Amino acid sequence: MARFATYLIAAAAAIIAIGAAVAQEPHPGGPMMPPPPPPRSIPGITTPDQFPRGCVDCHVDRPDLQMDVRLSTLMRQWQQGVSAEMLERVRVFSPASLTLAGRHPEVEMPFGRVPDDCLECHGRDSTSAPPFATLLHGLHLAGSESNHFVAMFQGECTHCHKLDASSGSWSLGSGAEREDLQELSAER
Ligand code: HEC
Ligand code: HEC
Ligand code: HEC
Repeated sequence: MARFATYLIAAAAAIIAIGAAVAQEPHPGGPMMPPPPPPRSIPGITTPDQFPRGCVDCHVDRPDLQMDVRLSTLMRQWQQGVSAEMLERVRVFSPASLTLAGRHPEVEMPFGRVPDDCLECHGRDSTSAPPFATLLHGLHLAGSESNHFVAMFQGECTHCHKLDASSGSWSLGSGAEREDLQELSAER
């Protein structure tokens, strides 16, 4: 019995202690509440858009880094043959019904309107080419930090998707690869 009483007293003390702790909590929105952090960086929305034309502003030739990731350059490689590693990724982000040859077909395109020209074959309902909606999201966003788009570009949707703040509608950034590059691909 005595032990039970001790337990009750201890329990009561604990409840009082919790009550005191709760009483010291600042009220939500009250004077002790810290101010909210500044808005997070969202390119084109809270911070300047460094890639207003989407794909072609980011997929560029960087001789300083010895890195040429222009889509026309990549395209030439896919037309010679897609690497086994890349093909495996593409398969994952393509409909199961689509059989891939592992080689990009020849395309009539001077890379004048990217990705619009690509979407003529890579549209949402395409049954002949992987739809970009799943292919590009997969290639740029899957794999967490091991994906360079996530690691280097924070996986930002607005690097590709652009908000028209005057209407609230979204579109894809688009444009031509730089003039000299168009000439280059025309030479082929
Ligand atoms: C802000 C930069 C950026 C933008 C904008 C961007 N990409 Fe990428 N893209 C990347 C990076 C980084 C990777 C490499 C991702 C990885 O595999 O780690 C990549 C990978 C790719 C790949 C796979 C290449 C390969 O050989 O593995 C394709 C295809 C591609 N992008 C097409 C596009 C298209 C089409 C658009 C426009 C709709 C676009 N990208 C917009 C940065 C960008
Ligand atoms: C005339 C139609 C057509 C156009 C235009 C086109 N593609 Fe494709 N693309 C295809 C087909 C078909 C495949 C499937 C190839 C296969 O079986 O491996 C494909 C596959 C791909 C793949 C997966 C790798 C491969 O070759 O299998 C990537 C990446 C790709 N296309 C990117 C692009 C980009 C970027 C553009 C625009 C700059 C573009 N495509 C324009 C038809 C097209
Ligand atoms: C590398 C460029 C790129 C990035 C990054 C990107 N998207 Fe997309 N998104 C596209 C393209 C291309 C399409 C297909 C447009 C079409 O088929 O007309 C698309 C389509 C969509 C659609 C239409 C849905 C569908 O399946 O048809 C939604 C929703 C979407 N994106 C949301 C997002 C969100 C959310 C993010 C960021 C987490 C994001 N996207 C990042 C390129 C991108």
